[in-house]
Amino acid sequence: MTARILPPSPDSIALAADALKRGGLVAMPTETVYGLAADATSDSAVAALYEAKGRPRFNPLIAHVASLEAAAMQAVLSDEALVLAAAFWPGPLTLVLPVSKSCSVCDLARAGLDTIAVRMPAHPVARALLKAFGGPLVAPSANPSGRVSPTTAAHVAADMGEQVEAILDGGPCDLGLESTIVDCTGNGPALLRAGALATDEIEAVYGTLRRPGSDPQTPSSPGQLLRHYAPKAALRLNAAAPAEDEAFLGFGPGDATLNLSESANLREAAANLFAMLRTLDSRHDRIAVAPIPSTGLGEAINDRLRRAAQR
Ligand code: TXA
Ligand code: MG
Repeated sequence: MTARILPPSPDSIALAADALKRGGLVAMPTETVYGLAADATSDSAVAALYEAKGRPRFNPLIAHVASLEAAAMQAVLSDEALVLAAAFWPGPLTLVLPVSKSCSVCDLARAGLDTIAVRMPAHPVARALLKAFGGPLVAPSANPSGRVSPTTAAHVAADMGEQVEAILDGGPCDLGLESTIVDCTGNGPALLRAGALATDEIEAVYGTLRRPGSDPQTPSSPGQLLRHYAPKAALRLNAAAPAEDEAFLGFGPGDATLNLSESANLREAAANLFAMLRTLDSRHDRIAVAPIPSTGLGEAINDRLRRAAQR
């Protein structure tokens, strides 16, 4: 099977929804990164998804839903979860919640946990697909497990073209980093994964988040393995300048092989990060990366860079 890249239209969305209903895999754009979607209620579709990604089955998936009502079918929304959902859904925030009695997402998708990760994406193509499909979709990033997440349809075609029935092309992803994951199952919301929604934006609404995941050797979220987002090239972080044999991924004004943002804009840098890592990785064996401030979106950018640099 070689996937077709389809421009979004009512026809291509109907075709993709049909493929999903038959248990197939479809790549869809979201505002964060491209997702590899499958019917969240189908054991066989979800098994095929784990297989296609080479993903360990102990690493649960995010259930994507179209509405708050659909979220409430799958999960128990506490008051704190409702506050966060009201502030940030649809958008790049994933909430980990207790599963509800009416949960239809299969055990395999949840890796057997009694919690479930739920997200309501904002991207119009993802929303249209969820609506046409009419149920929850699991959608991990559409890359082989452990590699750099895709932010264009062409990235997906290069990485997973053989495994998916169709790729809906929504253009380059606006945000370029995965969603921020907040655990609402404990004593106050806890940050599990820094991501495309800056932590300070959440903290402005909710107050300080707990940070159980600050030690990368003991991941608080099953998927937060230290080595992740890994290019083949060796990465050297916080480099003031490249060595002779290194490409330079810059940030801010100055000479660079590629520049995440010449104006030192973190949002622009986030949107460029994965695509530029891919480009440099395809041409160079060693990449030096300029220092990135750790404020705002810089927290998530530095998190991904640290994981990508891990040998
Ligand atoms: O932006 C995103 O979230 C993208 C787009 C496609 O929506 N999806 C994504 O999925 O990044 P994935 O599978 O690459 O990352 C999901 C993360 C994993 O680290 C997983 O361990 C964590 O969510 N997760 C899922 N269920 C969980 C649970 N019940 N408790 C804690 N972590 C969970
Ligand atoms: Mg991923």
